[in-house]
Amino acid sequence: MPRPMPASLTPISPTGKPSTATESSLGNSSTPTFATPAPRSSGTKVSNPFLVLSTFLPLETAFAFGTIVLATHILLSQVSAPIGFAPIGINKIYNPAGEIPVATVAKELNLPYCLSTAGSNPIEAVAAANGEGPRFYQLYMPHDDELTVSLLTRAHKSGFTACILTTDTWQLGWRHDDIATGNYAFYRGIGADLGLSDPVFKQRLQAAGIDPVKQPKEAGAMWIDNVWHGRAHSWEKMPWLIKTWKEISGGKPFCLKGIQSVEDAKRAVDIGCDGIVVSNHAGRQVDGAIGSLDALENIVAAVGDKTYIMYDSGIRGASDVAKALALGAKFVWVGRLWVWGLSIMGETGVRHVMKSLLADFDIFMNVAGFQNVEQIDRSALGQIPCRFCRGRHADFFAESYPKGYAMIAERSKL
Ligand SMILES: Cc1cc2nc3c(=O)[nH]c(=O)nc-3n(C[C@H](O)[C@H](O)[C@H](O)COP(=O)(O)O)c2cc1C
Repeated sequence: MPRPMPASLTPISPTGKPSTATESSLGNSSTPTFATPAPRSSGTKVSNPFLVLSTFLPLETAFAFGTIVLATHILLSQVSAPIGFAPIGINKIYNPAGEIPVATVAKELNLPYCLSTAGSNPIEAVAAANGEGPRFYQLYMPHDDELTVSLLTRAHKSGFTACILTTDTWQLGWRHDDIATGNYAFYRGIGADLGLSDPVFKQRLQAAGIDPVKQPKEAGAMWIDNVWHGRAHSWEKMPWLIKTWKEISGGKPFCLKGIQSVEDAKRAVDIGCDGIVVSNHAGRQVDGAIGSLDALENIVAAVGDKTYIMYDSGIRGASDVAKALALGAKFVWVGRLWVWGLSIMGETGVRHVMKSLLADFDIFMNVAGFQNVEQIDRSALGQIPCRFCRGRHADFFAESYPKGYAMIAERSKL
């Protein structure tokens, strides 16, 4: 049976009165702030752009001749740029069509798309929207092995080219803004479509006597309690998972996401991961964790020649991409950028944001004097104190702090 919502998660407002967030306020467009929260001070979240911003590109006058090539490959796939759509759960919070417009734009731009297990559309529907685009399936691994096998089988049959296991989110961090707004849509019967379309999970529902049509809240709660179950898997489970995925998929790549220490990176290599994502989940999980970029360089030094290293957390523009590549990442994923676009203007918003990032990167390459992404290496970087804010980045860049400007109106005029 699904757990009843703990009293501590009952929607409350900062004033202590019941939250005004209602079922109908979820699933609306124009909810970009739902993508923003992080635990407590937001310190870890802020430290992501902080570190990206405090790493400078002290370039000398640059001359580059010939065509600029952004294209690269990620594991087995050729893509337009070293930039992908990071997995973001339950896109129906931001747009009624959920993941579909996002997967559609990823296909159009030939950028890798990564679907979350907490996604709000069936795996097969997202794959259909993504067509021939390279796509990753991000696994949140249940403690029900049969269910895990079912999810992986669906992903493989739907043409997903790789699997990424997220290791930092066995349950959600304590995100004060989400708690204040009661932002846990699954418990309101919204967005569990990926689970409700799974044959094994349907059996589990039936065994528990839950009819998802008549009891959407109970069904949604039972699904998400299987995904964010709060009980970490151990390293000992990993060989089983890798073997299972390789058998199901005929050897497609397997990666770990959420690596922040050299020790874990080495362990990932030892157990046979094809790649890792250096990530702190946009600073949304471990409050006080180091900035993700701060973790990158040492990890690259330790295992950069042994596994494929990807990076995320805090990418907001082309120079952030370049700095991560310069520190040794081969590829970066972006999260909030496209979610904000999706929230504000659906498919058009996602396209606008990602094409803008590509344009920014293309121009960056030109003005910085790079002809291809392989040329961006450590020699492009310097570390000097930020002269703009004298170390007070948090005051300058905290996304959760009260805005000095109005939020973009419901219908933006992009
Ligand atoms: C609203 C939101 C939902 C997310 N959901 C997931 C998820 O379901 N699975 C996952 O592995 N990571 C998830 N992440 C983390 C992203 O995949 C990625 O690590 C992070 O967003 C990158 O940082 P950025 O948002 O600063 O680009 C989520 C992040 C946000 C902001």
